[in-house]
Amino acid sequence: MPKMINESVEYIRSKTSSHPEIAMILGTGLNTIAEMMEDPTIIPYRDIPNMKVSTAPSHAGKLVSGKLSGKNVIIMQGRLHFYEGYSMQEITFSIRMLKMLGVERLIITNAAGSLRENYKPGNIILLEDHINMMGTNPLIGKNLEKFGERFPSLHEPYSLALIKKCEKIAANNDFEVKRGVYCAVTGPSLETRSECKMFQSVGADLVGMSTVPEVIVAVHSGMEVLGISVVTNYSNIFHSKAHSQEEIRKNADIARNNIEKLIKSLLEKI
Ligand code: HPA
Repeated sequence: MPKMINESVEYIRSKTSSHPEIAMILGTGLNTIAEMMEDPTIIPYRDIPNMKVSTAPSHAGKLVSGKLSGKNVIIMQGRLHFYEGYSMQEITFSIRMLKMLGVERLIITNAAGSLRENYKPGNIILLEDHINMMGTNPLIGKNLEKFGERFPSLHEPYSLALIKKCEKIAANNDFEVKRGVYCAVTGPSLETRSECKMFQSVGADLVGMSTVPEVIVAVHSGMEVLGISVVTNYSNIFHSKAHSQEEIRKNADIARNNIEKLIKSLLEKI
């Protein structure tokens, strides 16, 4: 594994001389945030040795390296999901690659379903904690001491300092953000009403099919993490309709302007 990571890192270094300190992973419907980058170098995932390619709809599969708000940033436009059939190690491979490139801060975005009536489609939620209901963990197996310890603490998986900065930016720009707890499931089937009620009763506010494996690996390697969810739909607790991918994308669109503002201002301030 470390050898594979080195090969990927060497390839990326051969394509860009940028030394990124901050990485962003863009979730469903949030791909266009990469278009804000100045001086971008675009590297398709398929060209990077050892990198798998996402099959999910609206996940572009490109790495974009460049500048944003004066910072060296690298964006993963599209992610791999466990439900695509990749292993936990495969879906988190890129996190270690980013770490080896020098990334110390990770901003991770996703689309999520709401388990609370006041977390409405289009709302932006700053993650303050998560519940892993995926039934597995990306750190199972031999520990890679080079990255971190065997039993990493998850007492603050999402940086409170970054959450507070985001809340200030939102208040100054007159838009709302809330805090929330994200529950990760494998998918690809959506949750039943009873499952949603269970997640709600144990303290989750949102449910989705990503993020948690990446966050665990990022925290293991000592990165500071900011998690941002866009509520794209109410979960089945609140209605009895099927969700469409179109609905999910439409609600991600509603939040996108404010997320762009949030990220641009945050990068100026960190
Ligand atoms: N459930 C799981 N994942 C999701 C949802 C949902 O309701 N919405 C967007 N991603």
